[in-house]
Amino acid sequence: MNFDQVIERRGTNALKWDGMKHFYASTDAIPLWVADMDFETAPVIRKALENRALHGIYGYVDVPDTFFQKASDWGTRRYGHTFNPKELIFTHGVVPSIALIMKEMVADGDKIIIQPPVYGPFASVPINYQRQLVENPLIEVDGYYSIDFDGFEALAKLPDVKWFILCNPHNPVGRVWKQDELAKLAAICVTHNLRIISDEIWRDLVYAGHRHTPFASISPEVADLTITMFSATKSFNLAGLQASYVHITRSEDRERFMAALRRTDLTLPNAFAVDAVEAAFDGGEPWLIEVLEYIEGNMVFLEDWFKDKMPQVKFHKPEATYLAWIDFRGLNLSQSELMKRLLDAGIALNDGAWFGKAGTGFARLNAACPRSILVEALKRMEEL
Ligand SMILES: Cc1ncc(COP(=O)(O)O)c(C=O)c1O
Repeated sequence: MNFDQVIERRGTNALKWDGMKHFYASTDAIPLWVADMDFETAPVIRKALENRALHGIYGYVDVPDTFFQKASDWGTRRYGHTFNPKELIFTHGVVPSIALIMKEMVADGDKIIIQPPVYGPFASVPINYQRQLVENPLIEVDGYYSIDFDGFEALAKLPDVKWFILCNPHNPVGRVWKQDELAKLAAICVTHNLRIISDEIWRDLVYAGHRHTPFASISPEVADLTITMFSATKSFNLAGLQASYVHITRSEDRERFMAALRRTDLTLPNAFAVDAVEAAFDGGEPWLIEVLEYIEGNMVFLEDWFKDKMPQVKFHKPEATYLAWIDFRGLNLSQSELMKRLLDAGIALNDGAWFGKAGTGFARLNAACPRSILVEALKRMEEL
């Protein structure tokens, strides 16, 4: 694939490009914000979608057993963790699935642990359903983030704390939590009977030298407490197809989730989702490996550029994700001034504050774009 090719997305209703007007005061800026890629998806997926489109009938769609089998096989082959395909449930997105749990499975008064800086909806979705959050901020030393286990245990012990939303790997700091880190968290969860939502949407986008550990693989006890969120949409740039799947070990919880889903009447996929995701699992892996190499090249380029041209701004290549978590604190600007200057320079990044107070002084850059776009964005960055 030629990932250097710039494909015009304006005029396609792309949220990142055409939808920028809803979120930014300028529509001329280079959009390096919302998490999708400016690359064409894998040719096998495009072909499957073309075939589907050519059929011409787009009536109601069932999710076949093959979908869950392929999803399960993907996890076994790549992460050595086997789920019973019958324990998987099709959903229309990870965030909607978290929302359903907040609405229907979290009890009034239950408190939920999150570890900021973290993906904004981990806070906004529970709050939208009047749920209470408690925060265990990650510890940052020279741009490397780790978990405050003492802080986590202190919160887990509190009587009302019943849930934990884990980002594994972690957006925006790009950590791939190691087996021993997850095992420590898992032990605390089991001791205090904490339910876990493990969001593993980024698991396929892990760079060489790091290895994703599924949280539910730590032990059968922790699997019993865990609800895992999966999706092929980040890996293969299919977010507009709204397809994800949830794994729930406990049968009574699975039934509760299914019953809640049926009440929303959102159990059926759109006509394109199944074909695209099955094609990804069948033949998309070579493309995934290639795109990841290209994005890693972008990350190295960014890291070198900041060291060379703006040493007061700190950026370390992440272990996973195509998101660059950039530390602008050395510029001594207020958060609003930082975001205004970036936009005035012609670059639209995600505001670090969207990831919680711990994101103050930071901005997130989506590096899943042709190198030439990044080069132009960095040229503009010099205007800061
Ligand atoms: C951690 C995390 N979870 C979920 C999502 C969104 O998932 P979905 O589009 O399936 O709701 C994102 C998107 O960036 C994400 O970073």
